[in-house]
Amino acid sequence: MADDPLLKWREEFPILSRKTYLINNSLGAMPRTVYDGLKHFADMWNEDGVVAWHYEDGSGWLDDCEKTADLIGSVMGAPKGSVMLHLNVATLTAQVLSSIDFTGPRNRIVYDDMQFTSPHYVCQEWARYGAQLHVVKSEDRIGVDVQKLVDAIDERTAIVPISHVYFRSAYLQDVKPIIEKAHKVGAKVLLDVYQSIGTVPFDVTELNVDFAVGGSVKWVCGGPNVCYLYIRPDLIAGYKPALTGWISHARPFKFEMEFTPHKTAWRAATGTPPVVALYSARPGYEIIKQVGLPAIREKSKRLTSHLMERALEAGFKVNSPRDPERRGGTVCIDFENAEPVHEELIRRGFVIDYRPGGGIRVSPHFFNTLEECDAIISQMKELHRR
Ligand SMILES: Cc1ncc(COP(=O)(O)O)c(C=O)c1O
Repeated sequence: MADDPLLKWREEFPILSRKTYLINNSLGAMPRTVYDGLKHFADMWNEDGVVAWHYEDGSGWLDDCEKTADLIGSVMGAPKGSVMLHLNVATLTAQVLSSIDFTGPRNRIVYDDMQFTSPHYVCQEWARYGAQLHVVKSEDRIGVDVQKLVDAIDERTAIVPISHVYFRSAYLQDVKPIIEKAHKVGAKVLLDVYQSIGTVPFDVTELNVDFAVGGSVKWVCGGPNVCYLYIRPDLIAGYKPALTGWISHARPFKFEMEFTPHKTAWRAATGTPPVVALYSARPGYEIIKQVGLPAIREKSKRLTSHLMERALEAGFKVNSPRDPERRGGTVCIDFENAEPVHEELIRRGFVIDYRPGGGIRVSPHFFNTLEECDAIISQMKELHRR
């Protein structure tokens, strides 16, 4: 590992010198330059006040919103103007559903029971607007049979909200056949990429997905509330959500009473965008781009395979896919007293988390070492025995 070129990035993440930080699928380690980003925001506010929204030279808070959305888009193959920023995935899911008419015969939402809770709760509530839920069940609580999802999609399906990588198990879903089937029958797909962006390479243009949603706090090492929606460029003009607001307008500062939607994905904006937060997210995306996703994925597979082998040798249950090609960046390790052990691990400086049904989630990133992976397994072995 000593000759691992990715380890030079460790100095960009100060927490790594104090903690064994292995929870990058929940909240990525903070890049040190986040302090500069947030100071830059405060300096603009302090020095220029309201003028900071937009400077004549094309910089300023609103301009930085667009630039940050395009930066995020560049990590997932989205063209400029097809990604916008919002506060969280829950609101964006509701917004996409609010663009669909569920009163006719095409009123089904097809998804699976491994989704993150935010989109699941929103979909459930949409029954009040006529949506019928068809939920495909996972048999092993790790993955969901892609064929079952494909078969469940038919002419009654309006939308298929699916996770690219499942938060509970790190199962990497094979989304292409789902998207193809949905398009064959006239349905749309909303892909939640929160657990894949920054660790699994993918390209929304190549996938031909209709919508993609996600956020910045995980593998892209950003702060909270920098979520985003990608709208496939040919769908933007027809995207008319009921959930809207003044920043969705083509000319927000004209305050016209007649609503004219913005011509880019920013028509999804609703109200004031996440200005402060974006300065906490940009450094992470810039680093991920510099490190490069192929190198990140290769190292992730190496570290997660190692963790998995060691965990199995120790007799622990592993609730993540054995096949590295079907696995995101996390290994979920479970045993009888895993929940209290996770609390003790945190007290000992090993930062991980615990999810009921999944176990202790261990998520090494490109800056972690094999030694750190070995160290957490030895700690688990010691604490498990107590
Ligand atoms: C797959 C996935 N989607 C969404 C979220 C977050 O949703 P929200 O932005 O509504 O908090 C998470 C985790 O925080 C997640 O793992």
